[in-house]
Amino acid sequence: MTRDFQYYTPTKVIFGKNADEQCGAELKAQGASKVLVHFGGASAQKSGLLDKIYASLDKAGLAHISLGGVIPNPLLSLVKEGIALCRKEKVDYILAVGGGSVIDSSKAIALGVPFEGDVWDIFLRKAAPSVAMPVSAVLTIAAAGSEMSDSVVITNEEGLLKRGFNSNLVRCKTAFMNPELTYTLPAYQTASGCVDILMHTLERYFLRDTMDITDRIAEGLMQSVIAQSKIVMKEPNNYDARANIMWASSLSHNGLTECGSLRDFAVHALEHELSGMFGVAHGAGLAALWASWARYIYKDCPERFAHFATAVMGVDKGDTDATALAGIAALEKHFHELNMPTSISALGVELTAEQIKELAYKCSFSGTRKPGALHPLEIADMEKIYSMAK
Ligand code: NZQ
Ligand code: ZN
Repeated sequence: MTRDFQYYTPTKVIFGKNADEQCGAELKAQGASKVLVHFGGASAQKSGLLDKIYASLDKAGLAHISLGGVIPNPLLSLVKEGIALCRKEKVDYILAVGGGSVIDSSKAIALGVPFEGDVWDIFLRKAAPSVAMPVSAVLTIAAAGSEMSDSVVITNEEGLLKRGFNSNLVRCKTAFMNPELTYTLPAYQTASGCVDILMHTLERYFLRDTMDITDRIAEGLMQSVIAQSKIVMKEPNNYDARANIMWASSLSHNGLTECGSLRDFAVHALEHELSGMFGVAHGAGLAALWASWARYIYKDCPERFAHFATAVMGVDKGDTDATALAGIAALEKHFHELNMPTSISALGVELTAEQIKELAYKCSFSGTRKPGALHPLEIADMEKIYSMAK
């Protein structure tokens, strides 16, 4: 039976060649006066993108300051630096120039500036914010979907805890999406992004009693991402393939593939502990874990896994269990073809027995939650999945 749902996607999308050059006029129209341009390491500087952004802001007559240095799996310490800077400089708008890490760092700053306490308390659910500064994003990597999602994920270097927060407060006002900006991505980041995009839909797909129209949108999205990712790995400057993947990144995590269904996100929960502790690329971490989770869990709903196998991966073994397992193997093979890891050791991390226990305990939020909706995971389940994925 179709579940009740709310669908809210307030982000304005400006998509296409030169979309990034429209940021000044757009922010001006939204009432910005002083903008923090937040960015990551070297890529936006090296490509000349930052200069184009500053020129667009100048042209619109907007004052701006900048703060770079966001690393993948963004850190709380830089968020705090950004909060102090925005307060001191009386910034009233944040423009993220980068990927999920830069956008999430921007969202956390936006939550923290008007918040009186420690911003980390929001991530620990000890405090509930009621306002946030406006954030927009110039997207440079198709992956996390943060440009349209209600989510922000930050790592606290004290204890290496990676924690997320979901709220409509952190939805971007505008996403500037120029597929050409992703041409410079290293193949590993492109592939890792494609895995993350698939996962955002897959993590909403295996629930029982989903809605037919949502299923078909989800299946079409996944088929397209699989096909386009094969193209883009061979032709990094293929505009249409980059455009399809970029749009899929937003649609996969803006709630569209969740309507009438639920979020499971168990694999994400398991992965966030991995990338929090070891700093691995998020999508690569998902690729390393997914098949182990799927093989551990599929007996809860073999028909659904078999449906995925035939509808998305095009395999049918005539028998439900065999088809379900063949579908899992087929997606794993696709990850291999993208040169993505399908085990934790292939990520360059050799887990000890103690580390497996630590990961599972952290993932349970010290014994207070069971990640997943299809099969809520106990600590023992998580230890088994990490061990299977080792
Ligand atoms: O720092 P620079 O030099 O820019 O390099 C980045 C970074 O090293 C590079 N890059 C980005 N655009 C580039 C580029 N290199 C060349 N050319 C370009 N055009 O790519 C690397 C990865 O960037 P990052 O922003 O970390 O990637 P991604 O978008 O995958 O974001 C990952 C983060 O998002 C979180 C993840 O957990 C992780 O912390 N997520 C956020 C979500 C959300 N807010 O909705 C949902 C996701 O499930 C995810 O958890
Ligand atoms: Zn993700």
